[in-house]
Amino acid sequence: MTAYSGFAKIYDAYMQAEDYDRWLMGIQALIKEYGVPTKHVLELACGSGAMSVLLAKQGYDVIGLDISEEMLMVAKDKALEERVRIGFFQQDMVNYELNNTFDTVLCICDGMNYVLEEEDLESVFERVHHSLTDKGLFIFDISTYYKLKYILGESTIAESREDSAFIWENFYDEDESILSFELTVFTEENGVYRRSDEVHEQRAYKIADIKRLSEDYFEWMTVVTDTFDVIDVKNYDEETMTNERVFFVLKKK
Ligand SMILES: C[S@@+](CC[C@H](N)C(=O)[O-])C[C@H]1O[C@@H](n2cnc3c(N)ncnc32)[C@H](O)[C@@H]1O
Repeated sequence: MTAYSGFAKIYDAYMQAEDYDRWLMGIQALIKEYGVPTKHVLELACGSGAMSVLLAKQGYDVIGLDISEEMLMVAKDKALEERVRIGFFQQDMVNYELNNTFDTVLCICDGMNYVLEEEDLESVFERVHHSLTDKGLFIFDISTYYKLKYILGESTIAESREDSAFIWENFYDEDESILSFELTVFTEENGVYRRSDEVHEQRAYKIADIKRLSEDYFEWMTVVTDTFDVIDVKNYDEETMTNERVFFVLKKK
């Protein structure tokens, strides 16, 4: 099964709502400090729409784009429930086409790690550059090389709740810089448990890789931790720095 086809059903239940609240506050502060006055926002790899909905509730005009039909179905239901209007599009962010332009483009919670080839990541930067208004910001995070190799690599994580459970087995390939994970999801339907299996792959990018692949299109504003503390990029040692998620703030050249 393709990534997120079965996982979409339980994704929200296993995510922490407080992360999204913290990220929203941090992102808004970054836009104020480095960006242009922002009304129109595009969220790439918006998944089940948690951030898109929060942004729409703050008054932004939001478009969410994701490759997974199942995640977008959850996102559309969430937007309906929360009574916000958001345009959702099923597209690959590597080569997406939208007619609109945006003041800020976001991609949060590992979306960029799912782009496995460097040339494809460069293509995302080109596409975002094309979508942004003059001096607009691209704010995104990555799960770090440290997290993929040392925290997740070769680990097995399992969790069981009243009506769902998952087993998540990780394998890190050093030569390819790819973390593969096999995810088995069980969901209860009318007293019967349905099993689905899917494989995900994420690429470990280092901060220097992101710089090299984006620099034709973007000026670097800052790189911050998950708690929005500034990172000293020049002295950043990828093998020993224990940040699991870093955010990049890039301005359209
Ligand atoms: C970990 S989820 C994050 C979802 C959402 N951003 C959030 O904060 O919860 C990663 C998402 O990236 C999407 N994705 C992976 N590759 C993609 C691609 N090439 N284009 C668009 N979306 C992609 C997946 O479908 C999934 O919804």
